[in-house]
Amino acid sequence: MERIYLDNAATTRVDAEVLKAMEPYFTDDFGNMASLHAWGREAETAADKARREITKKVNGKEHRLVFTSGGTESNNFALKGIAFANREKGRHIITTKIEHDCVLNASRWLEKRGFDVTYLPVDREGFVSPDDFAGAIRKDTILASVMHANNEIGTIEPVRELGKIAHEHDVLFHTDACQSFTKVPIDLRKDSIDLMTVNSHKIYGPKGVGGLFIRQGVRIEPLLHGGGQEFGYRSGTVNVAGIVGFAKAVDMMKEKHIRNMEKMRDLLIEGALEIDKSWLNGPRGEKRLPNNAHFGFEHIEGEALIIHLDLKGIAASTGSACSSKSLEPSHVLTAIGLRPEQAHGSVRFSTGKETTKEQIEYTLEALRESVETLRKMSPFG
Ligand SMILES: Cc1ncc(COP(=O)(O)O)c(C=O)c1O
Repeated sequence: MERIYLDNAATTRVDAEVLKAMEPYFTDDFGNMASLHAWGREAETAADKARREITKKVNGKEHRLVFTSGGTESNNFALKGIAFANREKGRHIITTKIEHDCVLNASRWLEKRGFDVTYLPVDREGFVSPDDFAGAIRKDTILASVMHANNEIGTIEPVRELGKIAHEHDVLFHTDACQSFTKVPIDLRKDSIDLMTVNSHKIYGPKGVGGLFIRQGVRIEPLLHGGGQEFGYRSGTVNVAGIVGFAKAVDMMKEKHIRNMEKMRDLLIEGALEIDKSWLNGPRGEKRLPNNAHFGFEHIEGEALIIHLDLKGIAASTGSACSSKSLEPSHVLTAIGLRPEQAHGSVRFSTGKETTKEQIEYTLEALRESVETLRKMSPFG
């Protein structure tokens, strides 16, 4: 049986060329970039080249990219680092109800340490209202953190508008771009972004690598103290192979890949919505991530549907990968106004650069069959 992977928002396969680019940095060029000898210098040259290339993608001339272990670390660094470095100025932070758990849990952690956090609501499609955002800003607001695109329902937030409002009020603006980086245009300068979180494993790069872009002059406390690597912002021996792989993955993401994700997404949406009592969560069109399709099916348990599809060789997910084992309804689906039973009946498919039309057709067939079987078994069906 062919296996069909439609969970690319959780993680992606490392591209063969990415692996090839990384390989020398595990073997011949294994140096520690803090070392003064040739091995060290070679490692440093490779990491700096990667840093320049990734930064160029997002017009980051005024920013410094600090490499980290991934999105979770970068988000924790942004929130806690800004909060502690700027607490003399104020103790209020704005974020949203639909952020990834690493932003929400870092925010809750800060609340226990004397910071005040506002969690903005979103509309039915998952959009933050710029008016709500402006209205939440106070004299003591130091930071606003709004995700670039939502990992569950694919909503692309009006970041340019929000960044502008934040800057008009002298508030630092952070965005978590783990899902959108390289797939949706981002311009750090035009979008008024002071800090941006990115990671590698959603774009065919290795796991355990990411970064935080920090605008020069922004005061931020490090999370990790030690040997002072990464300009003193993030101590620890640098993961050179991972960083080289990350840069290669960024370079390899081309328009044709994004168009393919989008085309397959739209085929899936069109077909799935033909199923009786089904609906799409999140917006349609260009305000939706090119690889995200998220559906609800009346009288269906999402987990049961995932298992049925898995038996047919198809990988999809409920909620985000990290919290999908929880029985609580997704905080994102609750925030867009779904009832708990509707939230439990929702499933996410995320297409990839290699997804084919045949795979989508097979998936739709399997989806129709599975929904029908499960509804026959349901007391409400
Ligand atoms: C929006 C978002 N933020 C943060 C993360 C966490 O990133 P990482 O897995 O690199 O820690 C993810 C992915 O899991 C994500 O989708």
